[in-house]
Amino acid sequence: MTGWDLLALPQSQADNLSIFEPVAPPSQSIRTLSILLFAISALIFVVVEGVLFYNLLRFRKTADAPATEPPQVYGGTPIEIAWTVAPTLIVCILVLVVARTLWEIELDPPPPKPGDNALFVSVVGRQWWWEYRYDTYNGRPLGFITANELHVPAESDGVPRRVYLDLQSADVIHSFWVPRLAGKTDLIPGKTNRMWFQTRERGTFYGQCAEYCGTQHAGMLLRVIVDSPDEFARWVKLQQGPAREDPAARSGKAAFLAESCVNCHRVRGTSAAGSYAPDLTHLMSRLTLAAGILPNNEQNLDRWVANPQKMKVGCLMPAFAFSEGRRKEIIHYLTTLR
Ligand code: CUA
Repeated sequence: MTGWDLLALPQSQADNLSIFEPVAPPSQSIRTLSILLFAISALIFVVVEGVLFYNLLRFRKTADAPATEPPQVYGGTPIEIAWTVAPTLIVCILVLVVARTLWEIELDPPPPKPGDNALFVSVVGRQWWWEYRYDTYNGRPLGFITANELHVPAESDGVPRRVYLDLQSADVIHSFWVPRLAGKTDLIPGKTNRMWFQTRERGTFYGQCAEYCGTQHAGMLLRVIVDSPDEFARWVKLQQGPAREDPAARSGKAAFLAESCVNCHRVRGTSAAGSYAPDLTHLMSRLTLAAGILPNNEQNLDRWVANPQKMKVGCLMPAFAFSEGRRKEIIHYLTTLR
């Protein structure tokens, strides 16, 4: 199945954002905790409301009620002990189960080493897209950067393949949230937060920036693509390579490199070395544009470059007013970056 098919499926598993259908240990722990806390709260609610309504009905004012109030009762040691001890016990239980869940989901990553089958990626939240710096896999340095679509390997043949994310922000607070994989974790300027997950479910899992971060907060979508280990290895190999050289796109490349595109974007193997905007080295290997809001194709690329502000109001890329011919040349070059 190609990525296009996945995008086109209206009810693919990617659309499932339910925290009640977890596919990774951290989200499973969170679901268990949620159900337990909900059950305890529901029980307390039912008992308290039950007693309340029983008394409202049992002792309601009736026609033959005495005119004066009955004598009031003060104190009652056994009752006071009971209603102090019971809530204290309940709170203790809640604290213990929450602590156990935090213990499970907040793992300190071990140092990467060969044979660990673990993937380490640094995630940088930016207004309004996600930068992924692939650090190491199975102890080997990776050294490439991509955007918005996080590829990770699936657990297979009983070999766990853990994914450890270092979460940082380049500007304001964002929050990384793919509900079926793990809980929300904020990306905070000047601080590194961590999260991990592993899963044997292949496919695409959607998420969303979960902390208001400005105009395009809602347009800061997340896709985690869980590949088989072989697919993942092929994808890594592609990403590690330099940008493709297509002789047919020579004039477009020259135009791209001559324009201010290079101040913000990087295309590895060329003089474009900007680090402020998404790395375009293998742009066409991504399914979407602009942090997941548009399918990535020539037509949308053209509309995007013509006026990004029309496609995503407030985004940091301005419209450059290229002539149509020059824009087409640049777009042609971009479509060769596979
Ligand atoms: Cu980034 Cu909300």
